[in-house]
Amino acid sequence: MALSVTVQPAPCGALVRGLDLSQPLSQEQIAELRAAWLAHQVLAFPDQAMTVTDLERFATTVGPFSPDPYFHSIPGHPHVAQVRREANETSALFADNWHSDWSFLASPPAATLLYGNVIPPVGGDTLFANQYAAWDALPEAMRTLLHDKQGVHSARLGYSRKGRYGERDAGRSMAIRYDDSAMSTQLQPVARRHPETGRTALFVSPGYTIAIDGMPDDESTALLAELFAHQGKPEFVYQHRWQQGMLVMWDNRCLVHAATGGYAGHQRLLHRITVGERLAA
Ligand code: OGA
Ligand code: MN
Repeated sequence: MALSVTVQPAPCGALVRGLDLSQPLSQEQIAELRAAWLAHQVLAFPDQAMTVTDLERFATTVGPFSPDPYFHSIPGHPHVAQVRREANETSALFADNWHSDWSFLASPPAATLLYGNVIPPVGGDTLFANQYAAWDALPEAMRTLLHDKQGVHSARLGYSRKGRYGERDAGRSMAIRYDDSAMSTQLQPVARRHPETGRTALFVSPGYTIAIDGMPDDESTALLAELFAHQGKPEFVYQHRWQQGMLVMWDNRCLVHAATGGYAGHQRLLHRITVGERLAA
């Protein structure tokens, strides 16, 4: 069966059928998938029966494993984590604000892969906002102001001792580990050139961007508030509905994403791998 790509009626996203991801892929299939992924930013593969080992093998066709600094991995699989919430869980939702995964690292992951093991019958969608489109839609004066600015990124709001998943976090089933290293900062370009497509994407987020480097605090805070309001506008957003057995891979270099709730009383469980930049062939 030939690989088929169905583009979502949305600013990003496509469904891919005609591949069995429990089997190794050919170089041609890998190249075709990469082209589709770069074109649509989020690829969803429904009806895949994948073991953790299959997920790892597929990930290595996308790029090298990337570190997950604040998650415990699952036993025997040092690069695989669980995104998990129990039916009766009352902890704050995980990741329900716009972010690009681990953008506070010097080399953030290019891709994140999530595989749906247990998907609630309602709610738990993931939102994706196309940040090429967000950049392109900024007024020219704003693009000029931002083009050489650097964002200050940090994991502190989430993963420091005082953060959302820090010492006060209680009753969470997901294996998150806070750490004082989350206080450190990393600069990233606000206008990020995608290394594979060459297109510019807006690369800030309320999850991890705490300031614009070299700007007075009040100006920086006001500018970031404006960018945060802009980047998640409905015209940039694809709302992804999960199914059990669905694999999703997204591009952190040109998207922000956010979890949603709405599934109280139901379990949600996904396996997750982050993948770094592909080394030059
Ligand atoms: C993640 C994430 C969103 C979700 O795993 O990095 O942001 O909907 N997940 O679970
Ligand atoms: Mn995330």
